[in-house]
Amino acid sequence: MDEQTVQRFWQDHACGDAQVGGLHDRFADDYEKFFTDYDRFRYQNERHLPACIDALDVAGKRVLEIGLGQGADAERLIRRGAVWTGVDLTAESVERVRARLTLRKLPYEEIRQGSVLDLPFADDTFDVVFSHGVLHHVPEIGQAQREIRRVLRPDGELVIMLYARWSLNYLVSIGLIRRAALLAAYPLARTGLGRSVATRGKLSAHLGNAAERGLFRYLRMKEFTHYNTDGPANPYALVYDRARVEQDFPSFRVARLYKRFMHAPPLPVHGLPGESIMGWHLWVHLVPRG
Ligand SMILES: C[S@@+](CC[C@H](N)C(=O)[O-])C[C@H]1O[C@@H](n2cnc3c(N)ncnc32)[C@H](O)[C@@H]1O
Repeated sequence: MDEQTVQRFWQDHACGDAQVGGLHDRFADDYEKFFTDYDRFRYQNERHLPACIDALDVAGKRVLEIGLGQGADAERLIRRGAVWTGVDLTAESVERVRARLTLRKLPYEEIRQGSVLDLPFADDTFDVVFSHGVLHHVPEIGQAQREIRRVLRPDGELVIMLYARWSLNYLVSIGLIRRAALLAAYPLARTGLGRSVATRGKLSAHLGNAAERGLFRYLRMKEFTHYNTDGPANPYALVYDRARVEQDFPSFRVARLYKRFMHAPPLPVHGLPGESIMGWHLWVHLVPRG
């Protein structure tokens, strides 16, 4: 897996577009309406997010956000007083977030297109690095965490959200339900009735992936996880627990860790209690070592 493949995916699948209809399609480039609808969807769907972001100690601090998506959290951090800088791998995200901050007349330091693998900032620049839903999509995580350590001040804090291994979504939805559904649909898709069902939507994309890669290889969790987190075209995703965080972030010490977001489609668990035990989003606060 190389960075160009990851970049192509995010450039073509701007994060969250699919859920609200797409800036360039449904909203015909009406940025203001798009951002308003997107933010409403985001914070209604991920109800924990406003409180999690608002609890961060960012007022008056130099904050670097890595992986910007549509810039909803950037706006929130700036409104909370962060002296904000952003970086994203794709021109699409950078252009959208710049448009958002300009439209809403929000102050910021810099916004750059670039990679977490080679951050375009000097050593010891930031008090806080925030990265939500990004680092589990970075195959070269060792290099990424070294770069973050380099630009973060020694007394700074790294706050990240990673997908959680010990979650209903990973263990039950992806691990059992979706795999069983694909296993059942695969032979059916070769019959006349199955073919008509399987030409539509995500199932058809999964069947195509399985045919291309081989069904049993595709169903291995290491592989299947990529295609069941951010859509069947997503090239890379990893799930985390504390041990894996400690292994992949050796330049840091885990200060705090908690889970949020009951999300395990197709199970109707959204909004139900239990997120701190089986939630899909693992929030980790880390401090630099040494
Ligand atoms: C799943 S989206 C998350 C966006 C936003 N933080 C959110 O929570 O909606 C992942 C974002 O990270 C960016 N990204 C992926 N790999 C990256 C990398 N190596 N360096 C910087 N940004 C990256 C993608 O372009 C995309 O905008």
